[in-house]
Amino acid sequence: MIKTGIIGSGAMGTGIAQVAATAGHPVLLYDNNPDALSRARQSLENVMKRLVEKGKLETESAEGILQRIEYVNNLYACKDIGLAIEAIVEDLEIKKGVFEQLEDVVSEGCILASNTSSLSIASIAAACKKPERVLGIHFFNPAPLMKLVEIIPAIQTEPEVLAQSLGLIRSWGKTAVVAKDTPGFIVNRVARPFYGEALRILEEGLADAPTIDWAMTELGGFRMGPFTLMDYIGHDVNYTVTETVFQSFFFDPRYKPAFTQKRLVEAGYLGRKSGRGFYDYHHGAPNPEPRQDKKLGSQIVWRIVVMLINEAADALYWNIASRNDIELAMTHGVNYPKGLLRWADESGIAHCVETLDRLYDEYREDRYRCSPLLRKLAREGRGFFS
Ligand SMILES: NC(=O)c1ccc[n+]([C@@H]2O[C@H](COP(=O)([O-])OP(=O)(O)OC[C@H]3O[C@@H](n4cnc5c(N)ncnc54)[C@H](O)[C@@H]3O)[C@@H](O)[C@H]2O)c1
Repeated sequence: MIKTGIIGSGAMGTGIAQVAATAGHPVLLYDNNPDALSRARQSLENVMKRLVEKGKLETESAEGILQRIEYVNNLYACKDIGLAIEAIVEDLEIKKGVFEQLEDVVSEGCILASNTSSLSIASIAAACKKPERVLGIHFFNPAPLMKLVEIIPAIQTEPEVLAQSLGLIRSWGKTAVVAKDTPGFIVNRVARPFYGEALRILEEGLADAPTIDWAMTELGGFRMGPFTLMDYIGHDVNYTVTETVFQSFFFDPRYKPAFTQKRLVEAGYLGRKSGRGFYDYHHGAPNPEPRQDKKLGSQIVWRIVVMLINEAADALYWNIASRNDIELAMTHGVNYPKGLLRWADESGIAHCVETLDRLYDEYREDRYRCSPLLRKLAREGRGFFS
């Protein structure tokens, strides 16, 4: 069992430590803030207690998991780890500094991974003397519950390091997919229109937030509507991801953020955690009812879904990931009711192209340009799986 060092004991680090310890690995959980370490310890103890109470874990197993995790505030304690997963603050310079320090501490063979959501793995690896041992291992929140992990080799990463990491993460019971080192990897890129197009429909006044949420859940089969989900994630977090993806794609209009969400962040209406976002979470606060108009609802669902399909098709076109990994990523990473490429086949590729072209004609915005792959498949009368 490889001794695993988790660097950063915040929300993600704590969850990843739980996953690794549950898979039987001895874990060192490091943070430079002692309060964060005590919070992590408390949180893991509570989680284990709850799992035992619910009958999901034997007391003995829970104790074993907790005993396998050691909390350290000195990076030198990580000297004999075989794998480090960094989950500190999302800041390139700080991450680079930590990777430099780590490399001085660990052995030659230790794999160094970052859980970054938005930074390039190549730039983090470049801070290391042995960049070939660096890659991205991107968990989703909450790490113990979310099945998907994106594995991102940088251009410097040795194939053996990728193969070992894939094997290891799969042995932890996770669904591992491989993504190219490009902004948003798979999920955070392909999912952008789920929020962006919903915000656009709202801003145009075609429907309000409860109606769009109703349509996406009741008619579209998504677990949560986009506005409920944005409120849940937090607008600060969700807006920053959108803005970062937009900037990283050299301001491609397809990823343009929405003023509506920017203003929510500026106002401090961050969603559930601040008591108010698109909805008011204060006790007894009135929230408007959706307009349950099936015709309007179906139009909303299709407009958002076709934009998601276009994004998935483009990710495949640009070789960001394989067809199957794109499908797995969206069904396991964000629990979409169906893989988007299969959804495209079922709806008809020609229908997808017609809708996108109609939107493009209406708005004359590059945001609605159809992926060359969809157009090619339509021309050849083929689907993604046929
Ligand atoms: N929160 C999410 O939904 C999510 C999902 C996937 C990936 N990520 C990524 O995971 C990473 C961590 O995110 P988080 O939400 O857990 O953040 P967080 O703020 O909850 O935790 C970050 C932790 O890192 C510690 N830290 C900061 N600088 C440090 C340093 N120099 N040395 C050691 N520890 C340091 C902080 O004390 C804190 O405990 C980020 O890169 C983020 O982009 C987050």
